[in-house]
Amino acid sequence: MPRIAIIGGSGVYDPKLLENVREEEVSTPYGTIKVKIGEYKGEEIVFLARHGEKHSVPPHKINYRANIWGLYELGVERILSTSAVGSLNEAMKPGDFVVLDQLMDFTKNRITTFYDGEDAPHERKFVAHVDFTEPYCPELRNALIRAAKELGFTYHPMGTYACMEGPRFESKAEIRALKILGADVVGMTQVPEAVLARELEMCYSSVAIVTNFAAGISREKLTHTEVVELMAKKSEEIKLLLMKAVEYIPKERRCACKDALKGATGE
Ligand code: HPA
Repeated sequence: MPRIAIIGGSGVYDPKLLENVREEEVSTPYGTIKVKIGEYKGEEIVFLARHGEKHSVPPHKINYRANIWGLYELGVERILSTSAVGSLNEAMKPGDFVVLDQLMDFTKNRITTFYDGEDAPHERKFVAHVDFTEPYCPELRNALIRAAKELGFTYHPMGTYACMEGPRFESKAEIRALKILGADVVGMTQVPEAVLARELEMCYSSVAIVTNFAAGISREKLTHTEVVELMAKKSEEIKLLLMKAVEYIPKERRCACKDALKGATGE
């Protein structure tokens, strides 16, 4: 059973470093997802393209619940993901990696839970309030940091991510406000992905790739083309980083993620 999954964001559509890759469909109470499963150094790894293989699904339309439930069904306990971001922090420059440690949710139209009480389309028909003090798994973050250091990449070991609804980019005033609130980077996909993983007691982490300075910090008009171009340039490094991080993930989970539901349901 695969223990580890990689969710590839913008520009990361293919698990090129995996061997013996097969495609699988997983049906979930929220719909069916398509994944690729391959091997890396004897370890089975699941790969999921967050936006579909041709970036055909925009951030606000991604079936996050099917994605995370499907990975859980496959036996995945740990998720490494990538995310393209704009930077609000002058020290975090286009091309840099940021191992996220915090996030803020500014989305508006997304369902951010599996726990819908009686309405849930599965057996978990309860209400749960999971702890989210640390949104990202410390063990996975360590693995990413160790990998980035060893590979000699420019990286930042911490960063606060603001998740916007999109799909438009932000206004200058929004970015000014987010900066005052403490955001370092801005993107559109960490919510509800990180939340849902926590709700199923899976470890989750994300390495953000800065593709641009955010609106108003950059004097230029923002384009999706520049995001795509930068991600294409970084794609080899991203793959190396992810696979090196896989090697550093401890076999046994000692983090709190695996007990996220303890005390969360009031029982
Ligand atoms: N804003 C939101 N999402 C993004 C950006 C941005 O500037 N760059 C890449 N993803």
